Amino acid sequence: MHKNESDAEYQEELKKRILELKKERGALIVAHNYQRDEIQDIADMTGDSYALACKVKEAREKVVVFCGVKFMAESAAMLSPEKTVLLPVEEAGCPLADMITVEKLCKKKDEYPEAAVVCYVNSSAAVKAESDICCTSSNAVKIVKSLKEEKVLFVPDKNLGRFVREHVPEKELILWDGYCIVHMRLTYEEVVHAKELYPEAEFIAHPECRKEVLKLADHVGSTAAMVKYVNECPKKEFIVGTESGILYKMKKENPDKKFYVPTDQFICANMKLTTLGWVARSLEKMVYKIEVQEEIARKARKTLEKMIEVTG
Ligand code: 13P
Ligand code: SF4
Repeated sequence: MHKNESDAEYQEELKKRILELKKERGALIVAHNYQRDEIQDIADMTGDSYALACKVKEAREKVVVFCGVKFMAESAAMLSPEKTVLLPVEEAGCPLADMITVEKLCKKKDEYPEAAVVCYVNSSAAVKAESDICCTSSNAVKIVKSLKEEKVLFVPDKNLGRFVREHVPEKELILWDGYCIVHMRLTYEEVVHAKELYPEAEFIAHPECRKEVLKLADHVGSTAAMVKYVNECPKKEFIVGTESGILYKMKKENPDKKFYVPTDQFICANMKLTTLGWVARSLEKMVYKIEVQEEIARKARKTLEKMIEVTG
């Protein structure tokens, strides 16, 4: 009989097995803030895409299991070429990252030869390789501000791009027409409704949300910045405008505070593909190794390193 992964006893068995394998392999496990609760529990660290990439780069361990989506594991692997980075589920991708190809980017670059290309980390290694510098949601404003060029081609997320444009009015931003299908689901009306239901709550949002949604926010930031904000804010109630996996950490770190999701559609199916069973299998079989073609990795690494240099 096939064991059911939602069975509590089986979950404990899997957690034990993962800890044994982790020790055997000398591995580090990192998990993005959107991962399932039980995955966050077995991780050595949870965080946003920037923090996790830095953690992997600095880690002593030579094997890293990256519980997240492909572009995150790929970035971590390129920044740490001496390490083996494993993505437990090969198909865990990001539809936003797939909204741009190298061919289309090169065409656009020909239209704007004077523009610096800033690439959101939610993109393939090949697209990063064709860019001048990378950014994440935690540092996009700072990165764009740091550029000497006045014109900036910002790819592929238009909502983050618009957010940056508002904060760096001295630059001319040309935006790619990409977006996160999960964050785009949240509408202005849903947030207004949630605010009516919870009048004492602050509304916090990820910059991948629609512009009209961001206008309603008391705070906008990366997933790590959102967690930090609720930890430090004296308010007791929050409407959370990002993938619902983040609530686990927020609740755990703030048991006295209340958190609400403005829509029940706030789930990234790709992030939820990783289960305890897949993590155990990943360590057992050492799969799936992230491998990026050398020439692409060399160029893409430069754009990531430049980002780290600016961010500090
Ligand atoms: P963070 O870098 O803020 O964690 O965001 C990653 C992401 O994919 C948001 O949808
Ligand atoms: Fe990609 Fe959106 Fe999922 Fe983030 S939430 S990984 S941007 S699809």
